[in-house]
Amino acid sequence: MSATILDGNKISAEIKTEVAAEVAELKATGLTPGLAVVLIGHNPASEIYVRNKVKACELTGIYSEQHTPPETVSTKDLLQLVESLNRRDDIDGILVQLPLPAQVDSKKVLLAVSPEKDVDGFHPMNVGYLSTVRPGLVPCTPAGCMEILRRSRIKIEGADAVVVGRSDIVGKPVAMLLTNANATVTICHSKTHNLKEVCSRADILVAAIGRAGMITPEYVKPGSTVIDVGINKITDRAEFEKYFAGDAKREAAFAKNGSTLVGDVHPKVVEVAGAFTPVPGGVGPLTIAMLMANTVKAAKLRRGNTVPTKVG
Ligand code: GUN
Repeated sequence: MSATILDGNKISAEIKTEVAAEVAELKATGLTPGLAVVLIGHNPASEIYVRNKVKACELTGIYSEQHTPPETVSTKDLLQLVESLNRRDDIDGILVQLPLPAQVDSKKVLLAVSPEKDVDGFHPMNVGYLSTVRPGLVPCTPAGCMEILRRSRIKIEGADAVVVGRSDIVGKPVAMLLTNANATVTICHSKTHNLKEVCSRADILVAAIGRAGMITPEYVKPGSTVIDVGINKITDRAEFEKYFAGDAKREAAFAKNGSTLVGDVHPKVVEVAGAFTPVPGGVGPLTIAMLMANTVKAAKLRRGNTVPTKVG
């Protein structure tokens, strides 16, 4: 039997509809949630992400504005911009799009974002809130992984979950969220012994390594749920063949665009897993939906409302 596809586009649309309803309720009380996005230079991937974030704000009714300092911006100037956004009452969320140029001290800039407005959930204060199960802002991609699991009714409590990748942005926070949801969690990384064997015991396997197609069927327990956080662009014909040989739809898209996307999970995993998130159209769309949810949450938290938001 083939695996169930966990449709990220559908779940993301559901969440954005719920967020839009919540924004409308807030607007009726005179409060419009506001998001400021800081985009430095002209990284094409970052430009696409930011464009999609602004579009999602328009769809949900959130006010948004973009700040676009030049590629040559100094840490000092960026800190000044962040501090001016921290002071503004009409701005509830601040997102500094990564990566930042090499001359900028990224850690210093991210630390300067007020924890109350840190809709990325990267500030150590929010990391601490997450680890101690207090209300706070949770990183968007990990929060999106949890929404996929919950809304697809995948049992988390008591499950053996394995997270491959230990980044601050995805691996560590998703492991923490799974722990808080009562899964038994193992975090793996490049130095893990017997990786294949550890992964193949997982009821829920989260791949966030950044290596195209690394998780092959031998890593996957039959019937398990596989969440693929990787987004890797393939332009090489031989590499394309490794993943998509015989897939007519991919073939046509690759011929047309000269590239395609593959996750950290090999497409053949579909033959073993019980459920999986596709790439594209899996975890990716959730990241933006959760950013919208976080902006609403930030608007409420900052005004002392700790009643949980409907999403996130
Ligand atoms: N660049 C790629 N993903 C992200 C993200 O989730 N947040 C920020 N700020 N930058 C990114």
